Amino acid sequence: MLEVNNIDAGYGNMQILWDVSFSVEQGEVVAIVGPNGVGKTTSLRCIAGIVMPWKGNVEFLGSDITGRQTYEIAKMGLAYVTEETNLFTGMTVMENLQMGGLTISGKNEFNNTLDIVFSMFPRLAERRKQYAATMSGGERQMLAIARALMLNPKLLILDEPSMGLSPQNVEIVFDSILNLKSQNVTVLIVEQNVNYTLEISDRGYVLENGKIVMEGKGKDLLSNDHIKNMYLGIA
Ligand SMILES: Nc1ncnc2c1ncn2[C@@H]1O[C@H](COP(=O)(O)OP(=O)(O)OP(=O)(O)O)[C@@H](O)[C@H]1O
Ligand SMILES: [Mg+2]
Repeated sequence: MLEVNNIDAGYGNMQILWDVSFSVEQGEVVAIVGPNGVGKTTSLRCIAGIVMPWKGNVEFLGSDITGRQTYEIAKMGLAYVTEETNLFTGMTVMENLQMGGLTISGKNEFNNTLDIVFSMFPRLAERRKQYAATMSGGERQMLAIARALMLNPKLLILDEPSMGLSPQNVEIVFDSILNLKSQNVTVLIVEQNVNYTLEISDRGYVLENGKIVMEGKGKDLLSNDHIKNMYLGIA
């Protein structure tokens, strides 16, 4: 579904990514984990058409999308929930979901998509009239994911959905992601919460200093000594 092939990228003349390659197959949850500032978000920006790679290419659904406009890539079925969730906080849950579903043409299709999203996030259905500004951090993150799902995406990209959340809210968000997986939504997730993330991911990549240094099944990475030392604080 998605292939990132040998990309170099950076800002100005500062190189951030060095020969980065990874892939996501249909129906998988794939994680990219790594310390702060190593280029995780930059990798996602290269996929979404926000940063132009200096070298290498990005293929989505069999087409080369390197250098295409962000809106074109979104229209092909790629939804990107950024680190800053950018909800419309002065609008209700329902209005946010309507904004997410703007590209849906018919009323029936809109209602069908809404039903699916509400069945995945019953808490949002209960709170459809609540203003986004008054929701808890975990609920807001859920709403951001739900809004992205209103695009009916083929691939959902999440950049640090658990950032800044309390342990209880982190659990809510990871449960939502597990739920997506059971609905066969394909997910690429970037996270600092290595333990939880690798637990729910089919495969993972470790990015350090702009290079992929390790890849493997989520569970295998969790039991790897380097990961245990660096990310899980287990000697
Ligand atoms: N627009 C920009 N202009 C210049 N430098 C940038 C820009 N965006 C990011 N950087 C730099 O690129 C490097 C990688 O940033 P990036 O956001 O990709 O890291 P990250 O792995 O997502 O980190 P974090 O875990 O903190 O979100 C950092 O040193 C950052 O300061
Ligand atoms: Mg980041």
